[in-house]
Amino acid sequence: MDIKKVVIPVAGWGTRSLPATKNVPKEMLPIYNKPVVQYVVEEAQAAGLTDVVLVTNRNKTIIEDHFDYNLALEDVLTRTGKLDMLKTVRDVAEMVNIITVRQKKQLGLGHAVLCAREAVKNDPFAVMVGDDLMFGMEPGIKQLLNVAHSEHMPVVGVMEVPADKVSSYGIISGEEFAPGLYRVRDLMEKPKASETSSRLAMVGRYVLYPDIFDHLENLGPGQGGEIQLTDALKALTKSNRLLAVKIRGQRYDAGDWAEYLAANIYFALHDEDLRYPLVQRLKELLPIN
Ligand code: G1P
Repeated sequence: MDIKKVVIPVAGWGTRSLPATKNVPKEMLPIYNKPVVQYVVEEAQAAGLTDVVLVTNRNKTIIEDHFDYNLALEDVLTRTGKLDMLKTVRDVAEMVNIITVRQKKQLGLGHAVLCAREAVKNDPFAVMVGDDLMFGMEPGIKQLLNVAHSEHMPVVGVMEVPADKVSSYGIISGEEFAPGLYRVRDLMEKPKASETSSRLAMVGRYVLYPDIFDHLENLGPGQGGEIQLTDALKALTKSNRLLAVKIRGQRYDAGDWAEYLAANIYFALHDEDLRYPLVQRLKELLPIN
C-alpha cells in the first residue's frame, strides 16, 4: 500500500519560543530563509508524501497560506523581472496538496492526530511533529516508510538521547531484531531518567494505521493532563504491533533556542554566498565566553 498522507499537527502554542511566538506561529519562524514548517513539508515531499493534513487552530491560517499561491506578490515579481524568486515562491505553492482540519481545543498530540481522522480515512498515514527538523542522507520519515512497507506494521522513529533529556520525550524499550530496528515492548511518556534504562526517544516521526484512531478515541488524559499519542501506541504493543527504527541523520528541535540557532547557522553555512561573511562575523563573536 502506497502511503501518501501525512498529518502535521501545528496547533500548539509555542510557549517555549515566546515572545517570538506571541502572534507568529512557531512553525513560521524562519530557519535561514524558510519557515520551520517548510523544512518538514520538504522532508515529507522527498519521501513521496503528497497530501499534507495540517491540524491547525484559528491563529495558524498563515501556515496554509504559505503553501498557496500569492498572486499579488507573483505579479510584483513578474513586473520587476525577479523571475528566480517568482519560481521560488511558486514552487512552495506547488509542493503538496494541503488539507486543514481544526483542533478546536489543545488537548495534546494524541488529540491532534485524532482530529485528522476524517481526512485520513482508512489508509495508513505518516505523522510528523512540526518542531522536529531532520536532515541526512535519506529523509527521516522515509526511513520509517521503508520499514512500514516491508513489515506492514506501524513504526515510530527514535534517536538516542542523553539521560538528562529523557524526561522531555516519549521513551520506548524493546528488542533490537535487526540493526537499528526494534520490536517495541513498552513506552513511557516523559519518564524520569531513573524510571527507565532506555535512552531511545521518539523524535516526532510516526507511520500509523487507522486502528490508532480507535485507541485514541478511548483514551483519557495521560501525562500532563493531555491525550497522549504515546498511550495509544502502548495499546498496539499489547498485540506486538509496533516497531521502532533508529533514524540516521541530524536532528534539530526548533523549539529549543540553542538548536534553533544552530540550525540557522547550519543552513547559512551551506549557502556559498553567505558562508564567508557569516564565518567572519562569528569569528568576531567567538572570543565572548
Ligand atoms: C511529543 C510526544 C513525545 C515525543 C515528542 C517529540 O511531545 O508526546 O512522545 O517524544 O513529541 O518531539 P511534546 O514535545 O509535544 O511535548
